[in-house]
Parts: sequence; C-alpha cells; structure tokens
Amino acid sequence: MYLEKLSLTDFRSYAQVDLSLEPGVTVLVGSNGIGKTNLMEAIGYLATLNSHRVSTDAPLLRFGTERAMIRAKLVRGEQATVLELEINASRANRGRINRSNPVRARDLLGICQMVLFAPEDLALVKGDPSNRRRFLDELLVSLMPRHAATRSDYDRVLKQRNALLKSGRTGKFTAGHEATLDVWDQHMARAGAELLHARLELVDRLQPHLKNAYAQLTDGSKEAAAVYRSTLQDIMDDDGAGASSGARPADGAATETGAGTDAAAAPAEDLRLLSVEQLTDRYIQAFAASRRKELERGISLVGPHRDELELVLGSAPAKGYASHGETWSMCLSLRLASYYVMLDDARTGGSPPILILDDVFAELDVQRRRKLAAIVSGAEQVLVTAAVEADIPAELTGRRVKVIPGGIDEQENR
Ligand SMILES: Nc1ncnc2c1ncn2[C@@H]1O[C@H](COP(=O)(O)OP(=O)(O)OP(=O)(O)O)[C@@H](O)[C@H]1O
Ligand SMILES: [Mg+2]
Repeated sequence: MYLEKLSLTDFRSYAQVDLSLEPGVTVLVGSNGIGKTNLMEAIGYLATLNSHRVSTDAPLLRFGTERAMIRAKLVRGEQATVLELEINASRANRGRINRSNPVRARDLLGICQMVLFAPEDLALVKGDPSNRRRFLDELLVSLMPRHAATRSDYDRVLKQRNALLKSGRTGKFTAGHEATLDVWDQHMARAGAELLHARLELVDRLQPHLKNAYAQLTDGSKEAAAVYRSTLQDIMDDDGAGASSGARPADGAATETGAGTDAAAAPAEDLRLLSVEQLTDRYIQAFAASRRKELERGISLVGPHRDELELVLGSAPAKGYASHGETWSMCLSLRLASYYVMLDDARTGGSPPILILDDVFAELDVQRRRKLAAIVSGAEQVLVTAAVEADIPAELTGRRVKVIPGGIDEQENR
C-alpha cells in the first residue's frame, strides 16, 4: 500500500500541514527541528496508536491545544481508504474510516500497514525487555488486529490480579481473596496463553528473515537470532526437574523456547508445539506453583508480561556485547524482518507495508548505506528523512523533497 495524502491538524509542531505523496522512494530533507520526524511519527501513530518517541499522547498535541487530527488517504491496489484519527487531551481518542461514524481508535489498527525504523530503535537492543515485548506485540496487532483485544484483556486482568496480590502482601488476604484469585488465574491463563501462542508463532516467522537481513546488511561473519524466553517454560522446567534445589526463582532468567542458538539442554516441553488450550493449562499449573512466592512479592511473576525476546549475535547476547555498529544493524534487521513478515502476509491477503526510515542513513557507514538502499528500494513506498542530503546514498533513486516550516516545499520538488 502507499500513502497518497497526509494532513495533520495541531499535531506536534504543525497547526496544519497537507502532504501529497507518491509510491516509490521519497526522501524528505530539511534542517534539524524542522518537523520531519513529526510527520513520520504521525504515520506511525495512525498505524500502531503508539508513538516511537513518547509513551503518552500529551506531547503529540501542539502546545496549548486539546485535540490533534491525523488524516490519511491510503491506496491499496485500486482501493483507497481515508482514515481519520482524533487524539484528545481529555477524552478517548476516536477514529473514522471512509468518513464513517466515529469508531474506537482501536478499530483503525491493522489498516495502515507500515514499518518505521528510527534512531529510538536502539532501545530494541539496549533497552529493557519491555521494548522487545512491545516490538512483538505491535507487529502482532498489525498482522492480526484481533490481538489488540487479547493484549488489553491481558493487561486488565494482570492489573486486577496484581492489586489482589498486593493486598495479600499487606496481610489482608482472606479466603474470599483466594477464591477471587483463582478466578483471575483462569482469565489470565487464557489471555496469557493466547498472547504467548501468537508471540511464539511470530518469532518463528521473524527468525529466518532476521538472519537473512542481518547477513545482507553486514559481511555475514555473525549470525543474528531471536530467542523467545518464557517465564512459563521456567516454571515447567523447574517442576520437571523436581525443583529440589529451588535454584531458579520465578522471576529469574527465563528459559529459551526459540530456535537459532545452540541450547545447552533441550527444554522438557517445547511450548511452540502446544495449543492455546494446553498453554492455558500450563499457566494455571504455573500460577498454582508460584502462588506463595507471588503473595510474598505482591506481583504476578509468571506470564507474557515478564517474558523476554533475547537477541543473539553469533554466540553472545546482543545486549551488553554488541558493538555500536552491530547494535544498529541488529535493530535495522529486526525492522526489516518485520517488513518481510508483512510482505509474506501480503501474499495471503495482507498489504505490502509502507517503509519509513527516519534519520537512519546518517548513522550508517557508506557500505551499509548502500546495502540498505538496495534492500529498501523495491518497496512499494519508502519514506526517508535526512537533515543532510549527502547522507542519502546515490543508489536510493527517487523523489527528493525539501521540508520547510509548515510542510513540503512544492516548488523545490524534483
Ligand atoms: N507538542 C508540540 N507542540 C509544538 N511543537 C512541538 C511539539 N512537539 C515537538 N515540537 C517541535 O517540533 C520540532 C521537532 O520536530 P522533529 O522532531 O520532527 O524535527 P526533525 O526535522 O525530525 O529534526 P531532526 O533532523 O533534528 O531529527 C521541535 O522544534 C519541537 O520543539
Ligand atoms: Mg528527526
């Protein structure tokens, strides 16, 4: 798909801006702080309902305003879709699809298919596990929007369950609480199993593309892999081993369940082979096994909210070991892998995603710039931003536009 029109009202630095875009490569060039990333962020927000820069909506509203609007016209084959998203300071965000009656913002998920890569993505390798879980869940929701509900169900139950466990910690835990906790366990096991099942499947789909993308971008001397580590597997393995030493706490390093590295010992049961129902059962058993510890700590220790996607380069984890350049290549490869998974999906009814590279080329050496240009130039639409045009490799042929205060300088378009 490609974005034909983007209009923003009171979004970030823009009171009003209207852009016309075309398929193929567009490089947006403009000085620091002019508003390039703001434009890309708006497209990202429309696709994921998340900003790649901030975790709350407030900074997205232009200073002093209460409401921002993102409008976009997307074209897929012969079909055009007009999306509108209203971001409100003091009430729920709302969307509209083809000028329909207002719908929940969540109903827009999965319509604008895009992959955005930006310098903030370094946190995918360097940051805490929540960054990597978000990466997986965002991709999951783009591919299968129904999982937005799975995520929010899980988050809701987790919050309620944690509140209950906390009351256990303060010594106010009664038999009635215990019965309620049993009920929350059932709900959390079901939602957790759906999320885990979907994530494991997604990691399997990402794996070969991650490996290939990393090999393409670098000289291929190291192999990139992603290994899903589940807190559920941990508890099951402890159980299987009799857990006599009690050496591994429920919140400790989880055991790997993915492929791609040389696992020291085969896990007792490969979670990837289990159905959602079987995973639900395993969670219920795991919650029972860790209840005492959870009551002591006052938080939920087992579940997808504490799982980790470990990124591996060669034989070492990327986090803490990868060089600066390797970290960049790993992050970029993860985004490219997302792009390829979406392309695979497009063959079975999805849409080829828009590819957005915000301020990426400046960070890469000449060789990797060329390699990246070669990889992305075949995408249906690629939007690239740069402060300095010289950072864009000549191989990336296509439209160059100048971003000026308030939008694109149409006069300067080449
Ligand atoms: N909520 C907001 N209201 C008004 N202005 C904002 C808001 N949020 C950000 N800005 C302004 O937007 C500008 C940043 O825009 P943006 O990040 O898009 O720049 P950029 O062109 O990507 O720059 P760089 O090349 O440095 O990455 C800043 O000047 C900032 O003050
Ligand atoms: Mg920027």
